[in-house]
This record gives sequence, C-alpha cells and structure tokens, in this order.
Amino acid sequence: MKIILIGFMGVGKTSVGKQLARKLNFNFIDTDYEIERLTNKSIPDIFEQYGENYFRKLENSILEKFVKNEDIVMATGGGIITTKENYNILKNEEKVIFLDGSVETIINHVQNERNQRPLLKESENLSKKIEELLSIRYEKYIEVSDILIDINGKNIDEVISQILVYIG
Ligand code: S3P
Repeated sequence: MKIILIGFMGVGKTSVGKQLARKLNFNFIDTDYEIERLTNKSIPDIFEQYGENYFRKLENSILEKFVKNEDIVMATGGGIITTKENYNILKNEEKVIFLDGSVETIINHVQNERNQRPLLKESENLSKKIEELLSIRYEKYIEVSDILIDINGKNIDEVISQILVYIG
C-alpha cells in the first residue's frame, strides 16, 4: 500500500506522515527532504539560487522515483499539484489524502517558520497570500485526492485515526 499526503503548507503532512508510517511499519518519504538530500541544499536556497521552476522539476523527479515504491507513506510539498506532470501522477494513485485546513489554521502553523517557506517569506499580508495560493490550488487538491480530511481543531493523533479508518 502507498499513502500519499497532500495539502497546503502547514497542514501537518510531515508530522502526520512520520507517525503514520511508524504505526504501519512503512517507510516514510518526504519529497522536500529528498530534494534537500539530493541537492545538498535547503529549500529556500534552491528557490533563491535556481527559482521555483527548477524546484518543481526536482520535485517531479523525486515523485516519479518514489511513487514506484510500495508500503510507504509519502508527504509532499504544498505546491506539488501545480505542475501537470505531478498532477497526472497523483491523479492515478489510489490513496491520495488531502489534509485540508482553514487559512486561520494554516497561519497558526506557519507563522513562526515563514523563513523556511520561500513562497510566504516576503509577503506583507500573510493571510492574503495564503488565500491567493489556496484559491489557485484548492480545486487541484480536490481533484487528485481520494479523501479529504478536515484538520481544523484536530491533533495529529486524531488525524491519524481518521486515516486508519479510511485505509481499513
Ligand atoms: C511549497 C511548499 C513547501 C515546499 C516549498 C514550496 C509550496 O512544502 O515544498 O517551499 O509551493 O506550497 P510544505 O508544504 O511541506 O511546507
């Protein structure tokens, strides 16, 4: 089985994914972490030195590589659905789980680590920037996912329980 977590920055894909993988005794793959490992650079450095398009190409090669594995939980970067290649790969997968959080929840989660997220780093109005990106992405998250989990007001354990019920 392969479980892929998608959703906006700050919804807890990495935290949920790590613990879920441990529970299922699956390997955990985090696409951002794999990109950093491959390039030996941080995500903000990649964005700064090579730009977003280059980052998306790396993201695509990582997704293509790891999506072939079985018995994994994969946490993806929030923008993974923005390229056609990644969108198509995810659309064909069976257990793509959309972790959905409100703008307020997202702000609470990303506020203190904005520097690690190049797309939010420099925006003066954080909530407007999140709304803007979400309005472009939301439909795509819905289209490629097989289930939506509302994470508002839930802790990691509660989100994991819901995923475990879903996968049966
Ligand atoms: C991005 C989300 C980040 C990371 C990069 C771009 C995005 O991952 O891939 O900064 O476009 O939403 P997280 O969703 O894990 O923060």
